Amino acid sequence: MTDNKPPRLELRHASKSFGRVRALGDGSLQLWPGEVHALLGENGAGKSTLVKILAGVHQPDSGELLVEGIARRFANPAEARDAGLAVIYQEPTLFADLSIAENIYMGRQPRDGLRRIRYDEMNREVDALLSTLGVNLRAERLVRGLSIADQQVVEIAKALSLNANVLIMDEPTAALSLPEVERLFAIVRALRERDVAILFITHRLDEVFALTQRMTIMRDGVKVFDALTADMTIDAIVSKMVGRDLDTFYPKADVARGEVRLSVRGLTREGVFKNVSFDVHAGEIVALAGLVGAGRSEVARAIFGIDPVDAGEVRIAGKPLALGKPATAVRAGLALVPEDRRAQGLALELSIARNASLTVLGRLVKHGLISAKSESTLAADWGKRLRLKASDLDAPVGTLSGGNQQKVVLGKWLATNPKVLIIDEPTRGIDVGAKAEVYRTLADLVREGMAVLMISSELPEVLGMADRVLVMHEGRISADIARADANEERVMSAALGASPQALGRAA
Ligand SMILES: Nc1ncnc2c1ncn2[C@@H]1O[C@H](COP(=O)(O)OP(=O)(O)OP(=O)(O)O)[C@@H](O)[C@H]1O
Ligand SMILES: [Mg+2]
Repeated sequence: MTDNKPPRLELRHASKSFGRVRALGDGSLQLWPGEVHALLGENGAGKSTLVKILAGVHQPDSGELLVEGIARRFANPAEARDAGLAVIYQEPTLFADLSIAENIYMGRQPRDGLRRIRYDEMNREVDALLSTLGVNLRAERLVRGLSIADQQVVEIAKALSLNANVLIMDEPTAALSLPEVERLFAIVRALRERDVAILFITHRLDEVFALTQRMTIMRDGVKVFDALTADMTIDAIVSKMVGRDLDTFYPKADVARGEVRLSVRGLTREGVFKNVSFDVHAGEIVALAGLVGAGRSEVARAIFGIDPVDAGEVRIAGKPLALGKPATAVRAGLALVPEDRRAQGLALELSIARNASLTVLGRLVKHGLISAKSESTLAADWGKRLRLKASDLDAPVGTLSGGNQQKVVLGKWLATNPKVLIIDEPTRGIDVGAKAEVYRTLADLVREGMAVLMISSELPEVLGMADRVLVMHEGRISADIARADANEERVMSAALGASPQALGRAA
C-alpha cells in the first residue's frame, strides 16, 4: 500500500436491504495484497451481508465494487470466484460423501482423452497442496467425519487451487479449539507472505491483535472507522463498535450460597466421561473448564437426558432425576442452552417470537390457543434484556444475524425460569457489547437464586464470572478451584492434566 497501485479489492458505499430491513447502509472497505484485515462490528452490524456482496451471493442496491481498481458486478458466486475471491464461511459447505480431492476439484476434474477423471493426477496435486498447508490430511479421504477445522483447511486448499488472491473468512475460529486456531493462524500468515489479501471476521478481539494489520469497524450497517491494528487498543475498538464505553465487563456480585440445586454423583458414560461428581448451589455460578474434547458438553447432555449414561445419579433440588428424558429434566427445573445453538436450539423457519417462546408454550396457551400477544411480549422482554437486534419479531429467526440467533436461544431458555441453568459456551459468536449483557443477565439470575453451570473455553470469562471452577481432563474432573484461588495458570495446567502436586507448585 506504499506505491500507487489500487487496492486489490474495494467496496465503496454499498447498501443492501431485505424488504424493510436495511442490512447494510454504507459499507466501505479497502483490502490490500499481503494484509490480514479485520472486519469488526456488533451482531447485526452488517459484516456477513458485506461479505455476501463481495462473494456475489447478494447484489448491492447501490455502491461500487472494484477489483484491482476496475469496477465489477458479480451476478453470482461463480463470477466472484473467477475474479479470484474465495469465501470461507463458519459452517463449511463441502460434500460429505466425496473425497477431499473431489471436493477441491468439483466440476473441473482433470480428464484423459476418454473423458475419464484422472484420479491419480488429481490426488497427487491435492496431496501436494495439503502438505504445503502443513496439514496431516490425505486427498482420498472422505469429507464425512472431518472436524470443522479440517473442513476449513479443505476449503482453503480449494481456494488456493483456484488461485484465489482474496480470501474472506467469516468467523472461522468460532467453533475451533485452541490448537486448531493456532494451525489456522499459521496458514493465514503463510498466505499473507504469498501476497494473498485476507479479510477476517471475528468477535474475539485477542485474535485481531494476534493476526491482523488493519481493521474496518462497522456499526448499524455503516462503516464507522478504519485503522492500523498497531494503533488500536481493545477499549478503543470496543467503543467504536458499540458507540459508547462499556461499564464493568464482569459484573460478578458475591451472592450467599443457598441449598444444593444440582447434585451429580458418579456419572459415567464409558469411553466419554468417568465418575463425574459435583454440586451446584443456589446463588452460585460453577464453571466447567477444560480443553475442547475433555467431555464437558457430553456431561451436560447426559445430565439433561439427551445422551445415555452407564452409571451415576443426578438430583435436582434434592429429588432424584430420571435420566434419559429431556422433557422430564425440563419439568424438574433444568434448562440447557446448547453449544451448537443454530443446529440444536432453533427452528429457523419459525418466527423469532415463536422460537423465543417454544419452551414455555404451555404457559402461554389460553383457551387452547397460543396467545400471540403474550408470545411477543415475552420475546420483546428478553430481546430487550439481551440487546437483540431484530426489526420484526414475527420474521423467521433464520433471517437474524448469527449472534442474534444465539440470543434468541438464550432468551428462550431463560424464559423457563429454571432452578438450574446449564449453559454451554454462553458467549460464543456474541459481540462484546452483548457479552456484557449476557454476563449481567447471569449475575442477575444467580442473585435471584438460580444455580448456574457454565461450560466455557474462554478463560477470562471463567475467571471473571465463576464462584468455583471445575476443570475436566480426558473425561474426569481434575480440579475444583475456588474463585479466590483460580488463575489462568492453575486452570490451564489442570486442563492439560497436570497432577495435583504439580498444581500445588504452580499455584
Ligand atoms: N436474508 C435476510 N433477510 C432479512 N434480514 C436480513 C437477512 N440477512 C441479514 N439480515 C439482517 O441484516 C442485519 C445485518 O446482518 P448480518 O448477518 O450482516 O450481521 P453480522 O454483522 O454478520 O452479525 P453477526 O456478528 O451476528 O454475525 C441484521 O439485522 C439481520 O437480521
Ligand atoms: Mg455474521
